[in-house]
Amino acid sequence: MINILFVCLGNICRSPSGEGVFKTLVKRENLETEFFIDSAGTSAFHVGEQADRRMQKHAAKRNIYLTSRSRKFAIDDFAKFDYIMAMDNDNYMDILSMDKQDIFKNKVFMMTDFSPLYQGREVPDPYYGGGPGFEDVLDLLEESCLGLLEIIKKNHEL
Ligand code: 4NP
Repeated sequence: MINILFVCLGNICRSPSGEGVFKTLVKRENLETEFFIDSAGTSAFHVGEQADRRMQKHAAKRNIYLTSRSRKFAIDDFAKFDYIMAMDNDNYMDILSMDKQDIFKNKVFMMTDFSPLYQGREVPDPYYGGGPGFEDVLDLLEESCLGLLEIIKKNHEL
């Protein structure tokens, strides 16, 4: 089983979308039994909430359905997950700052590192913006998740 965790600040916009996009891709390729896919937030601001309604609406237009409830990233997640995908630089630094013994850094990645088009970019926080922000997030995630899945398939001979 390959365990993947998508992480953002609130776990109601970007990381539930990463989770939804990746689950949709994996389902399309009949690889569901190979993966456990989840998401979390570095903050507890929205714990227990469903994904932001605007994010859900934009995702649904692409046949991507967001079903998760927000939870906070926990120390145990470092051991549980093989790939921990940060959406922006703050998420990346916040995750690493919880790895006090500096032993899990090789599991923590920037989401866009896996996209040939968007490498080096952050997935911007759409929470305070309008519609185009949500579409931009989905474009970035679709591109990056495709790249991530291709690399995982190679690494794990799927
Ligand atoms: P997310 O977006 O990190 O992509 O889930 C946000 C959601 C809520 C807040 C910030 C970002 N907030 O400050 O409440």
